[in-house]
Amino acid sequence: QVKYLRDYQAPLFLVDQTQLHFDIRDGETLVTATLELARSTPGTQEALTLDGDDLTLLSLVVDGQPWTDYEVGEGGLVVNGLPDRCQLTTQVRIHPEQNTALEGLYACGPYLVTQCEATGFRRITYFPDRPDVLSRYRVTIEADASRYPTLLSNGNCIESRSLDGGRHEAVWEDPHPKPCYLFALVAGAFEQLTGEYTTTSGRQVSLELYADQGQGQRLGFALESLIESMRWDEIHYGREYDLDRYLIVAAGAFNMGAMENKGLNIFNTSCLLADPDTATDAGYRVVRDVIAHEYFHNWTGNRITCRDWFQLSLKEGLTVFREQQFSETVNDPAVARVEQVRGLRAFQFPEDAGPMAHPVRPESYVEMNNFYTATVYEKGSEVIRMMRTLVGEAGFRRGMDVYFDRHDGQAVTIEDFVAAIEAGSGADLSAFRIWYAQAGTPLVQVRDQWDASTGTYRLTLNQQLAATRGQPDKKPAPIPLSVALFDQSGGRVSSPAQSELRQTDDGVIVLDRPNAQVQWTGLAERPVLSVLRGFSAPVRLHFEQPDADLALLMRAEDDAFARWEAGQRLIHAAFADVLKGDDARGKARLSAFCQAVAATDPEAPIVGEWLDIPSTIEFTDGLERVDVDAVLVADNVVRRTVAEGLREQLEAWYLAAETERPYRFDAQQAHRRRRRAACLQLMAQVDADKAVALASDLLATADNLTDRMAALAAVNDLDRPERAQLFQAFADRWADEALAMDKWFQLQAVSAVQGLPAGIAELAQRPDYDRGVPNRVRALFGAFGQRHFAGLHRGNGEGYRLLADEVLTMDALNPQVASRLVRPLTQLTRIEGERARLMRTELERIAAKQDLSADVREIVSAAL
Ligand code: ARG
Ligand code: ZN
Repeated sequence: QVKYLRDYQAPLFLVDQTQLHFDIRDGETLVTATLELARSTPGTQEALTLDGDDLTLLSLVVDGQPWTDYEVGEGGLVVNGLPDRCQLTTQVRIHPEQNTALEGLYACGPYLVTQCEATGFRRITYFPDRPDVLSRYRVTIEADASRYPTLLSNGNCIESRSLDGGRHEAVWEDPHPKPCYLFALVAGAFEQLTGEYTTTSGRQVSLELYADQGQGQRLGFALESLIESMRWDEIHYGREYDLDRYLIVAAGAFNMGAMENKGLNIFNTSCLLADPDTATDAGYRVVRDVIAHEYFHNWTGNRITCRDWFQLSLKEGLTVFREQQFSETVNDPAVARVEQVRGLRAFQFPEDAGPMAHPVRPESYVEMNNFYTATVYEKGSEVIRMMRTLVGEAGFRRGMDVYFDRHDGQAVTIEDFVAAIEAGSGADLSAFRIWYAQAGTPLVQVRDQWDASTGTYRLTLNQQLAATRGQPDKKPAPIPLSVALFDQSGGRVSSPAQSELRQTDDGVIVLDRPNAQVQWTGLAERPVLSVLRGFSAPVRLHFEQPDADLALLMRAEDDAFARWEAGQRLIHAAFADVLKGDDARGKARLSAFCQAVAATDPEAPIVGEWLDIPSTIEFTDGLERVDVDAVLVADNVVRRTVAEGLREQLEAWYLAAETERPYRFDAQQAHRRRRRAACLQLMAQVDADKAVALASDLLATADNLTDRMAALAAVNDLDRPERAQLFQAFADRWADEALAMDKWFQLQAVSAVQGLPAGIAELAQRPDYDRGVPNRVRALFGAFGQRHFAGLHRGNGEGYRLLADEVLTMDALNPQVASRLVRPLTQLTRIEGERARLMRTELERIAAKQDLSADVREIVSAAL
């Protein structure tokens, strides 16, 4: 059944206090919940509805008396005839060991953990499972003392004691009222790393990180990152932590990255554990960013939460934005921004162009878990970034202060957030709100005109937004466009723009209508325009610009993103030329690109970014129709041409990129490793023998996973015996390291040799392909579907069939994972020819499955 934003109704009952008792037994857990209920409108008669899923109700008691006036139905419990205030106690039985959906309370190897967002709490007990019901929790956990020596929940541990029969119990109390999606419980035997943090106002916080036996020494980087994050939020937003303990637990089987449960975060091991052998440089960055993200949620998410799930971006868009700001201060800011934009284009733009296109604030959903999307998260963050651009840095910060002051302790809406930013900054954002309501990626077209006789440079700007499902008519949005002019020798032209459009102090023009003009007068020579600097808006840009201008921007732009982007635009334009059959034109552009790269100091981090040529998926972004075979040919031409054009540099740069030993995660070292990896990868295109020799050597001598992956990636597409040998050597050495082997699976999944359907099927037969561990499933089939364009789109449809088979298998076990795996198949409307029909056949086969989960059904039916 579909839920609509417009149907929101405030809760009929509030829960002042929640007492939970968990009796953890072998194969089952008994949960007793005592809720102090209060009608929000005393004197009314409506029944109380409690959500519940997969629960066996054992008893129901109201104010100490057995209560019989209730019905247990699909999805919940309806209790009739309750007084305005009462104490209601239910007892249910659940089976964490059989919970393969990994939602609610489940077994993760030998221990038990929870995941409640969005609606997993209803799989633990009967409760009003909605984010606007805030309650104070007191939790008692009782379990076998030797199997589960550590018993954790939110807040403070106020009591613990031994019980008869080798059992023990712990009592936790969380002083902060919270929605049930922030509830957490963990029971198990862990290794632990502790640290300490003192807040500016003097609160001593004990930081405790927990991981599986043997993994404790991999928690150090996460602890450092946590301390960095806590400090950052105090400095940049004046926000302090509000409990005496901050706990984080690593879970090997976890559906997503991590979860911000109050005072007790639960993390996917891949986002928490890091050492040189099991995490790449990028992996270290993920750990730091996710630690920051979950920590920042304490204010943007936990203390101020969402009124309903349509408001998810209230906490996620804002927290991603804060995480990105953090990342820009602790990493190279240019590289950070480039990566953000690459991610947005690779995941969010296709989503916006496909059948699941939805606004940052969706209007309806069937399964909320399907809406933890790049649109809600990453585009949501871009929307906030634009707001900051429009109201200015200082105004934005005042707006945030108003937000924290006004809404602390509340469950609010995106509208409340925007209103707070308006109040703090004094700006009028009424037109801006449309960014939350309209799906799709706007297209901004720029045309320019130079009049030498008057020294006038004129831009004609235009914005368009194509219809998306359910939104046939779109309105223009205010689009902040950061622009700058350069003279022919690369200096900044400072003369001001003239336009009827609003401009901010720092060169941002706000395109708030379908068409407009901007001009500069009195110029001595034709200027070179840089537009969408810093990626000032999440839009596609169409602007035909001479190769020489783009090459000049690659050299002279002082905005690092725009500098990188100039190179991207040359490559993308070249790809489009080759796709049209104009190879000569394409190669000319690539030669301009290569020259500009070759002229750059290789120590500049941007070089590694440039050398990392767009993936096939990035190349297809924005194409209305995708002719797969032609795309693959053009992709290959571009890659080879760049490799040819930089042949000399590649080897020299490879050899010059010596890094320190032992491995150390550090921005400059990471940049060198990244450049070296990109060089080796390109070298394999034009000099396979040399690449194989260097890769073998690198794999044998590397002291870290980043370099080992670089070695394997370089040979990954070569159909030579050394390929198999190197992968085998890695697997022999690292077979017992799940996180390292995930990387190995990921690479195999996108290989031109092993990553074809037969090879993928073979990998899926391995005993270490474990469907109970989402990381492994994503490493193989997630990577295959999302990142292996040639493998997925095999002309005979076997790639689609293979993926569909896995979706069907996973659907029965873990619907959340299945509904992510299926998404590449839904991009069928853009694919040309027979392939689209083959994709449809597979989607129909999935749709026909008996008992298909609501998760997968929602995605598949949107596409059919
Ligand atoms: N709130 C978590 C985070 O972004 C993610 C929860 C995802 N939940 C889900 N059902 N997909 O930090
Ligand atoms: Zn989040």
